[in-house]
Amino acid sequence: MTTITQDTFLMCAPEHFEVAYIINPWMEGNVAHGDRLTAQGQWQELVHALRSVARVDCMPSAAGVPDMVFTANGGLVLDDKVILSAFKHVERQAEEAHFAAWFAARGLQVLRMPAGLPFEGAGDALLDRGSELLWLGHGHRSDIGCAAVIADMLEIEVQPLKLADPRFYHLDTCFCPLQGGYLLYYPSAFDAAAQERIAARVPAHKRYAVTQQDALSFACNAVNSGKHVFLNQASPALCAQLERWGYTVQQIALTEFMKAGGAAKCLTLKMNEPRTLHSGSGHVVEATAAL
Ligand code: ARG
Repeated sequence: MTTITQDTFLMCAPEHFEVAYIINPWMEGNVAHGDRLTAQGQWQELVHALRSVARVDCMPSAAGVPDMVFTANGGLVLDDKVILSAFKHVERQAEEAHFAAWFAARGLQVLRMPAGLPFEGAGDALLDRGSELLWLGHGHRSDIGCAAVIADMLEIEVQPLKLADPRFYHLDTCFCPLQGGYLLYYPSAFDAAAQERIAARVPAHKRYAVTQQDALSFACNAVNSGKHVFLNQASPALCAQLERWGYTVQQIALTEFMKAGGAAKCLTLKMNEPRTLHSGSGHVVEATAAL
């Protein structure tokens, strides 16, 4: 018997959202230049679109943590466990207690990174093909040392990818695994070793290198549920590629959130990653190992 479960995404309303500090290049020049009403409207559009195919749970927003709308950064969820984020920048560290309380109230086992290892959750840690593989972006926010800890805690294979362009400071800004083993990514955001690693692991016909223009429109920052893809903006060529792979694409303008360096995927945290045990779990592939 097959059980079909609907995806659940955690979101946090932008009642307190603003660009109040600068911790990534997108925020430069945007401090106090946001329009919260427009942000609220754009966020509602995303909720509305997602609710047509999935469930959306909302956590309470709070004053003093304007980036908490980016729930992807709350932690990494797998089964009934969550590895809580340990934010690199002090500006976001107060979010940790809010996320911890919400996860615990939901009945998840809340695991923590050892002290001194920054980790920014599902902004940098992306599951692929169910839970067969976890890609970990490092170099800007999350520490490479997290790879071994995650492999151990979740008994999963972790593939580290070094990020090389400050505009793409979280893995989910430039890399998007899709259901079925497909991948959208922006190769120039990665160092040469990471590009080789991706090419070795994802067959050419299943990966698509987006243009710089699509990358800068945060097309890789897409939410995927089943055969549906939701994103800020994508070129006709990218939409056509996704359609050839069998996805429907919905574009929802999220320009207010891009002023803070985030778009669709950053605004969501998938809560129900299904566990499929497999051989080869529980190890990190060394960055220097032959592929
Ligand atoms: N201003 C936030 C930061 O720099 C944006 C986070 C975007 N989140 C994401 N998952 N990429 O931390």
